[in-house]
Amino acid sequence: MHDTLLLFGATGDLSQRYLFPSLIHLWRDRLLPTTFRIVAVGRQELSDDEFRAWLRDRMAAEVADDAGVVEDLLARIAYVSVDLRDEAAIAQALSAYADRPSVSYLATPPDLFVPCAQGLKAAGLLDGESRLVLEKPIGRDLASARAINAALKACLDESRIFRIDHYLGKAAVQNLLALRFGNTLLEAVWQHRWIESVDILVGETAGVDGREGYYAHYGALRDMVQNHMLQLLALIAMEPPSALDADSIRDEKRKVLRALRPMSEADVAQHTVRGRYGAGVVEGRAVKGFVHDEPVETFVAVQTWIDNWRWAGVPFRLVTGKRLAERATEVVVSFRPVAHWLFDRPKRGRERPNHLRMRLQPDETIELGLMGSLAAPEWGALELRPMSLDLSMSTSPQRRIAYERLLVDALRGNQTLFVRDDEIEAAWQWIDSIEQAWSRNRQPVLEYPAGSWGPAEAEAFLPPVNGQRGGRA
Ligand code: BG6
Repeated sequence: MHDTLLLFGATGDLSQRYLFPSLIHLWRDRLLPTTFRIVAVGRQELSDDEFRAWLRDRMAAEVADDAGVVEDLLARIAYVSVDLRDEAAIAQALSAYADRPSVSYLATPPDLFVPCAQGLKAAGLLDGESRLVLEKPIGRDLASARAINAALKACLDESRIFRIDHYLGKAAVQNLLALRFGNTLLEAVWQHRWIESVDILVGETAGVDGREGYYAHYGALRDMVQNHMLQLLALIAMEPPSALDADSIRDEKRKVLRALRPMSEADVAQHTVRGRYGAGVVEGRAVKGFVHDEPVETFVAVQTWIDNWRWAGVPFRLVTGKRLAERATEVVVSFRPVAHWLFDRPKRGRERPNHLRMRLQPDETIELGLMGSLAAPEWGALELRPMSLDLSMSTSPQRRIAYERLLVDALRGNQTLFVRDDEIEAAWQWIDSIEQAWSRNRQPVLEYPAGSWGPAEAEAFLPPVNGQRGGRA
């Protein structure tokens, strides 16, 4: 395990909210090497002590019962102030740390990836066994993602580049693999003959607050669908890999992403909805709408198809939005109705087919919707009712912040939960088809009240509740 972490963007939002808390938890749990050291790199001019004081204030609550843990980790941090656009300055400021293999983590906007990587390379910090970790987004479209990937590969080999999608670090997301490939029952029906549709929802109650500039430039399609949602889709739809190593899994995910049907102007007009939240009430609190001159969306609904043998004709519906009624991440697999309905009660029961609902956030549950008859009358017709088998995963061992797992994997050199260059590019290719068709169509961005389930036009895209569509909006 490497013991040197260079963290670029150390005073930024991601570092404060997730990376330092994760490092503190890992240190507390003795999951980092005893020789561990952090080089915090940022633009602000601070001394080591000033940076530690700044961080101490923010991290005090993380390990409230053991301040010693935070102090111990703080003592291992050096702060380096440098202009992250200036390769020569980066090289000069950091070359002293090239004494042993390291992991450099770029928690910076994507336009800084290339100058930072080139500065690191000039400092000798990408040689040998050293690794580079990159936050999303990798570019803003296929062309910019390709340019970044090509420039990085001139600095180090793909086998040492770790592209983060923090959804892959979530235990609940890894459980999708366990469910899919650990169960004969599911394996047998996991295809178009038995599955009617797949819904993926990532609903958030949070808004874009504090990130207006970024959001106006990216929008929900690029911010959420290109990465997190397509990774979920790929894990659900991919063929079984021959082994669980990084490239076996990533090969299969890439095949799914490449089989996504590109979208034309007619497709996006019919199969997508763009929305942006206006003022409203979320979780009992009045909130303002997102106002911006750019026609950018905070909500997107897309119905798509995967053009391969397994999924022929099966619609995959992806919905995500900010300031929705509920925070909920879930995947709902709806099965086809039984071939012939035998029962009088209900007369028509075929419209309530089986479903498997995997809820990933905020609680982790699995619900299998079945039809059954609990109390059969002594005579007369058998009466069927929808019922469900519910499994709560909340008794499972302590859940970690997704970044904890990803940081350990990067320090250990395990790429399984990181995204490969060709996956990113395949995802962008499909996203570009939508963005371009939207712009040619001048597809409207419909306003929805904060605290709702998005524009009324998107109702048909929302996942079914208890096996029935339309139960949510
Ligand atoms: C980030 C997006 O990648 O994921 C944010 O940039 C979004 O806009 C966040 O809020 C959601 O992550 P999580 O783990 O809270 O579901």
